[in-house]
Amino acid sequence: MSEKLYVFDTTLRDGEQVPGCQLNTLEKIEVAKALDELGVDILEVGFPVSSPGDFNSIVEISKIIVRPTLCALTRAVEKDIEVAADALHYAKNKRIHTGIGTSWYHITHKFNSTQDEILQRAIACVKYAKKFVEEVEFYAEDAGRTENEYLARVVEAVIAAGATVVNIPDTTGYCTPDEYGTKIRFLKENVKNIEKAIIATHCHNDLGMATANTVSGVLNGARQVEVTINGIGERAGNTALEEVVMAAKCRKDIPVHTDINTQNIYRTSRLVSTLMRMPIQPNKAIVGRNAFAHSSGIHQDGVLKNRESYEIIAPAEVGINDSSIVLTARSGRHALQHHLERLGYNHLKPEQLDDAYRKFLKLADRKKDITDDDLRVIVGVGQTEAQRRLKLKYLQVVCGKSSIPMATVQLNIDGEICSATASGTGPVDASFNAIKQLIHRKVTLEEYLVQVITRGSNDIGKVHIQIENKGNIYYGFSANTDVVTASAEAFIDALSKIV
Ligand code: KIV
Ligand code: ZN
Repeated sequence: MSEKLYVFDTTLRDGEQVPGCQLNTLEKIEVAKALDELGVDILEVGFPVSSPGDFNSIVEISKIIVRPTLCALTRAVEKDIEVAADALHYAKNKRIHTGIGTSWYHITHKFNSTQDEILQRAIACVKYAKKFVEEVEFYAEDAGRTENEYLARVVEAVIAAGATVVNIPDTTGYCTPDEYGTKIRFLKENVKNIEKAIIATHCHNDLGMATANTVSGVLNGARQVEVTINGIGERAGNTALEEVVMAAKCRKDIPVHTDINTQNIYRTSRLVSTLMRMPIQPNKAIVGRNAFAHSSGIHQDGVLKNRESYEIIAPAEVGINDSSIVLTARSGRHALQHHLERLGYNHLKPEQLDDAYRKFLKLADRKKDITDDDLRVIVGVGQTEAQRRLKLKYLQVVCGKSSIPMATVQLNIDGEICSATASGTGPVDASFNAIKQLIHRKVTLEEYLVQVITRGSNDIGKVHIQIENKGNIYYGFSANTDVVTASAEAFIDALSKIV
């Protein structure tokens, strides 16, 4: 059996620091439960001194989550450490994560201090945290830009003071894989007491190298990785959990294993994306909606003959039923139906399927790459305006600074004209609320994505929507120069597949 690689998830701390991604306590509990089911070893649940909301969330999570170790972040400040210990009071397995900046930038500009003083503060904070908990993790902020000799002195001293884990953050995402790996190896070889602690990687993605740096750290001796779901985090984000875990799983030359239930990866990724309102780029490794979509003819052919020709991971391993597009212009109706069902179109009538098949063949003749999105558009647009039981007749929104966004909609439902007015947090929300008043179905918005091509304010906005009803996912799409109208139409497009 290979050595264990500990997975330290910081979605709820470093990930949650992203503006616009803040979660309330209930949402944090939901994410924490999903991370627990995913099998993470350590769950960093927040920075308790930063706000009463963060403190409360940690208390509530501590009452519920028992398996993973719960970790709270602090600065090298006694008050922070006391508050963290308080917040973790109910936690069954707990850890305090304390530390200080060690690079020249931090020592000189942030602390106006000296290397010796910072070393003493590092030792003091670990000793203080040790009074409250057994497991103390020390972070050397901006270790990526700290000279290795000084970093080694700090690491040796904090381990002697009781640190059980030493975290080597590349805070600014500046390192290259070789440089970061060399740093870890340097610590392994030059810190006398290094065997008494676990070395942790914590890499940011500013140059797009977070996963490469993390893997390099592991190859050079790190045994804990600090990661977030979907790689969310400040600026360009943190290392993505799913990327490192799957790299360790499928590459034999990475000599470690994790205890992550990889089949839960996709589900957890969607949950985090939805709750944190952070869409996942379609080509995102492992969890993007095109991550397993083979669309070129050559790849389809290769996958048909043997999946492994073009697939290093089976989609099912990360919890995706089957996303390989194996449709060509020669594919039959049955194959098309199989793929439409996979995308959630379970209730197509035979004449709708015939219509979709005709459109598919036409498109497949013109276009080599038929993606999942193409299929969705085929079915979405497959219902002509005349066939649809649900049509948007009229939409007016009032919004702007210092006014409550209001929307009035008129729908044609099976020939009957109905109107409703509703308010919302913005014009789109108000429009959706008004539409919901007329459609008596319980739907949850799973994904809402607006894309513009040229970025000009006069550009066409393409809106993709996914809604959930009774466990089924329905997709809607529309495009318009008016994004509010496009959003309402996309919502109705999705709803019309249920109604
Ligand atoms: O990036 C970083 O240095 C951090 C530390 C606070 C651990 O997030
Ligand atoms: Zn960080």
